[in-house]
Amino acid sequence: MVGNIDWQSLESKYYIQTVNRVPVTIVRGKESTVWDDKGRSYLDFVGGWATATLGHSHQTMIDAIVEQSKLLIQVSNAFYTIPQIELAQLLVDNSCMDRVFFCNSGAEAVEGAIKVARRYGKLNKNGAGEIITALNSFHGRTLGTVAATGQPDYQENFKPLLPGFVHVPYNDFEKIKEATTDNTVAILLEPVQGEGGVNIPDPEFFTKVRDWCDRNDLLLILDEVQTGIGRLGTLFGYQKFDVEPDVITLAKGLGGGVPIGAFMVTERANSLTFGDHGSTFGGNALTTAAARSVVEFAINENLPEKVRVSGQKLKNNLLNLAKADYSNITEIRGEGLLIAIQFETEIGLEVMQECFSRGLLVNRVRPDTVRLMPPLIVSDEDIDKGSAIISEAVHAVSKEK
Ligand SMILES: Cc1ncc(COP(=O)(O)O)c(C=O)c1O
Repeated sequence: MVGNIDWQSLESKYYIQTVNRVPVTIVRGKESTVWDDKGRSYLDFVGGWATATLGHSHQTMIDAIVEQSKLLIQVSNAFYTIPQIELAQLLVDNSCMDRVFFCNSGAEAVEGAIKVARRYGKLNKNGAGEIITALNSFHGRTLGTVAATGQPDYQENFKPLLPGFVHVPYNDFEKIKEATTDNTVAILLEPVQGEGGVNIPDPEFFTKVRDWCDRNDLLLILDEVQTGIGRLGTLFGYQKFDVEPDVITLAKGLGGGVPIGAFMVTERANSLTFGDHGSTFGGNALTTAAARSVVEFAINENLPEKVRVSGQKLKNNLLNLAKADYSNITEIRGEGLLIAIQFETEIGLEVMQECFSRGLLVNRVRPDTVRLMPPLIVSDEDIDKGSAIISEAVHAVSKEK
């Protein structure tokens, strides 16, 4: 209990109203469970918006944050700090990338990648600056990333947009070819479209795009903000598709809930130089120490392998549910622990509400789609518990129809 204060009324009075929140005030979390201010528990399959790599308040992160906060939290990036350098080394040594820059969020990471591409165009391609991105993509809410995002709803109220983005259907290599001009410098794609509804490309899609980039001297930028650090059952999303990009972005799972983002480049794409970019908080000692503990855990405990097994278990449970009468489910799709339940009709919100009333948090990502992104350490028991609640919720909603 956190007193008898009506927190939600206070929020509606004091907070800028841009988010339609679920009516629950969460005060505490442990592993895959969170508790509200009335003491009620919920199984969290939203996973802090796909950030909860180690679940809530994992001892590994607590120790890293406590120890680092006693030593040093923040100094200017004019100086060297050890956790930042250690995290950089860890990420580079375990990826196909050569260098990293740390920032504070996913959108900032994509902004950085856009700057890398524009600068690459200036240096190597007569100033070419256009970036091909996908329809239905999501790259963030800053003005640059809203322009990159292929969803008009996010753009309309903020025009004029940053120019230089061309949108083509996701997973359509021919359209990428058609959209490429002398002014194209990069192709920016999510390995799996997350906010777009968990859309998975054909196995050969990225191989073809990689080859196209090589033939036309384009940078392949993969936005791994949602898919990076184990979510798809591989440490990085690109490993799932067996391609090596030139630039990747990270955030969400990298910090395990602590706000940190990153963009990484290969030596070829390393176009930024002194004075081109910077950040006050980016890569500060506290967040990089926390992220280092998350990435070390993911590597040392082989978390991606666990995610493959857990993801398959969750998928199997849902596939069984899809076979049941009245399920309304037309498809279960996903990789690792990023999974969507596709319904025939627009019952996503009702299913989400039924899950909520039974103590499970899920995300209605589209009117007809529910998305699951539990913590990567989710236990088998919690997978079964969550699946049973989803089953009840789906049947409650579908039978009413
Ligand atoms: C693929 C992708 N890129 C970028 C972002 C933006 O990240 P942030 O909300 O941390 O700015 C998101 C957020 O959902 C995302 O899924």
